[in-house]
Amino acid sequence: MSILVTGGTGFIGSHTCVELLEAGYDLVVFDNFYNSKPSVLDSIVDITGKGFKFYHSDMNDIGDLEKIFSDNDIDCVIHFAGFKAVGESVEKPLMYYSNNITGTLNLLNVMKDHNVKKLVFSSSATVYGVPKKVPLTEDMPLSVTNPYGRTKLMIEDILRDLCVSDPEWSVLLLRYFNPVGGHKSGLLCEDPNGIPNNLMPRILDTAFGIQEKLTVFGNDYDTVDGTGVRDYIHVTDLAKGHVNAARKLDAFRGIEAVNLGTGRGYSVLELIKTFERVNNVSVPFEFAPRRPGDVAECYADTKKAYDFLGWKAELGIEDMCRDSYVARVNHSGRSDEE
Ligand code: WQD
Repeated sequence: MSILVTGGTGFIGSHTCVELLEAGYDLVVFDNFYNSKPSVLDSIVDITGKGFKFYHSDMNDIGDLEKIFSDNDIDCVIHFAGFKAVGESVEKPLMYYSNNITGTLNLLNVMKDHNVKKLVFSSSATVYGVPKKVPLTEDMPLSVTNPYGRTKLMIEDILRDLCVSDPEWSVLLLRYFNPVGGHKSGLLCEDPNGIPNNLMPRILDTAFGIQEKLTVFGNDYDTVDGTGVRDYIHVTDLAKGHVNAARKLDAFRGIEAVNLGTGRGYSVLELIKTFERVNNVSVPFEFAPRRPGDVAECYADTKKAYDFLGWKAELGIEDMCRDSYVARVNHSGRSDEE
């Protein structure tokens, strides 16, 4: 019996593959390398010493999906594959709906045809929209402000309807807060294709001189120092949460949403200062107006993750800053065969 990991060479997908392999699971992985590189496959093997089946394919190719399920004894699916850049989704909504929604529908139909009804879905705190209060609990109202977030909420709604129609399904919606960091070996990191959008890759680009100054979007929020507060979570903690989720799928039917965060928020300036101190580097920055769509504060209530999944984050902000830096040092200058 294997776990199928879609998007398994991406930032969170690759770290989750490492933790699943180390937990003793057999894996089948597919990815189209839209936002990752083939060398990630070697890194996963180098870290774990374990092999797995890989398919260079796309969830919009139903024939590929059919072959994966026909050729392998899939027990459950962890579904990461999808486009995830907020800004890009605003510019190219049809590309996001076609890939994320149609692709997921293709996956669900093939799963149903093969009687595979256990799924962990990579959702996001973005489905909470502009929070009325913090920390965020899973029962809070859901709303979205961009096409990327709308694809996440639409897929959650599709899965809720599916579970109403067929009580045999077991579905976990894992709502990530802000994943950062890299594997402690330095062999895996956040290595997006193209220009990074998120804060930590931008801090790294500034620390490594790829960009002269970090732009801090807004210093007039009602927060500890006026800059945005987020719940940064180490990607390894996040990955381990998926191992707990895979185990939980055997123990319940229905659908549940679970926040994966630390429950602690840090401001942009707090993250910059911690990063500089931990790594003994300088991150020059300048303030700019608020970024459209940003919220002031967003961090998780972690009670359900602990009570329902038996999981809580173990690594702190200093680990996140150190592991992000070390992983980038190991990856700077590395060229990947396309
Ligand atoms: C964090 C803070 C910015 C860049 C996004 C997605 C969310 C999830 C995580 C996928 C904010 C500030 C950022 C920069 C800055 N992705 N910032 N300068 O927006 O909280 O969440 O990534 O699931 O769905 O929305 O993350 O890292 O972009 O921003 O000042 O160059 O850093 O204003 O306060 P965000 P982020």
